[in-house]
Amino acid sequence: GKAGYDWFMLKEIDEQPQAVADTLLGRLGNRGEIVLDEVRISDEDLRGITKIFVIACGTAYHAGLIAKYAIEHWTRIPVEVELASEFRYRDPVLDRSTLVVVISQSGETMDTLMALRHAKEQQARVLAICNANGSTIPRESDAVLYTRAGPEVAVASTKGFLTQVVACYLVGLFLAQVRGLKYEDEVAAVVAELRKLPDQVREVLAGMDEVRELGRSLATESTLLFLGRHVGYPVALEGALKLKELAYIHAEGFAAGELKHGSIALIGDGTPVVVIAPSPHGRESLHGKVVSNIQEVRARGARTIVIAEEGDDDVLPYADHVIRVPRTPTLLAPVVTTVPLQILACEIADTRGLDVDMPRNLAKSVTVE
Ligand code: F6R
Repeated sequence: GKAGYDWFMLKEIDEQPQAVADTLLGRLGNRGEIVLDEVRISDEDLRGITKIFVIACGTAYHAGLIAKYAIEHWTRIPVEVELASEFRYRDPVLDRSTLVVVISQSGETMDTLMALRHAKEQQARVLAICNANGSTIPRESDAVLYTRAGPEVAVASTKGFLTQVVACYLVGLFLAQVRGLKYEDEVAAVVAELRKLPDQVREVLAGMDEVRELGRSLATESTLLFLGRHVGYPVALEGALKLKELAYIHAEGFAAGELKHGSIALIGDGTPVVVIAPSPHGRESLHGKVVSNIQEVRARGARTIVIAEEGDDDVLPYADHVIRVPRTPTLLAPVVTTVPLQILACEIADTRGLDVDMPRNLAKSVTVE
């Protein structure tokens, strides 16, 4: 049951610290190494990989977009991320030295399954990141990394997504470790940061009353825009998707750098714009760019809602609302920055009197095309 929660979604959002801990359980070694015994692809084959495709649908695709930033940085292997429904109907270039990572919470999504078969026909190795034990996608893959999020009942994916992102980090770090490349030293450092994530998600959840209040104040809006750069860009897409599917409000996520190429025309007086600010301790230029984007949209009338790291005061002059998240390395930030967006969408939908767990026109697992 819902264990006292109004919605399964709220329960599942609250389960995220435990879910992330379970994804990591037994996979981080004492010496800061990654232990993925279940990835039964030989070290030799893993060393021979020249290209990675990450394939998924919907929210899982957003996890894949985040994976690209992390895996390319840690392994120097080129990564392409593609929607399963596009990949399966074109003629992608892949062979024995290609690793295809398919991501699916349910393990039954038809487009993802068909993309997997398409990849296998061309001799690619397929690694599934999946939540549902023994489902079709892991059964047909060469190897599977289970996310162990537990059953996800609400149609909108929350803990499913967060654990997919964490599983992608594990895959990237594992590949870096096996291949002994340039970023090997970084593996142990990132592992130490991964261990902190469950508590950091807990910390974000503890401060959510203000976000709920903010959500109530946004319930009558007709459009919300989400902006981010780098890994903040997929987070913006995910925030917009959650809002569309739950609250039936028009929402769009943008790469902040694309604003001036058209979308900035959407911004008028009072348009709510949610901005995911990167850590000021990461690449300085990235943080500075996002701060100027906040300033730009504010100057055109936007009501700015900024998700920013604890202590980041640079955003204060241009933020109408600040939502704080703990300090993480830039690449790991989506695990904390996504959480307020889930709560925001949930609260807006609830205020609008909608069924948060069962949005109209949607099914939990899309086994048809
Ligand atoms: C959105 C959502 C969907 C799924 C998508 C893929 O909240 O849940 O976009 O992410 O249908 O589903 P899986 O991961 O089961 O393949």
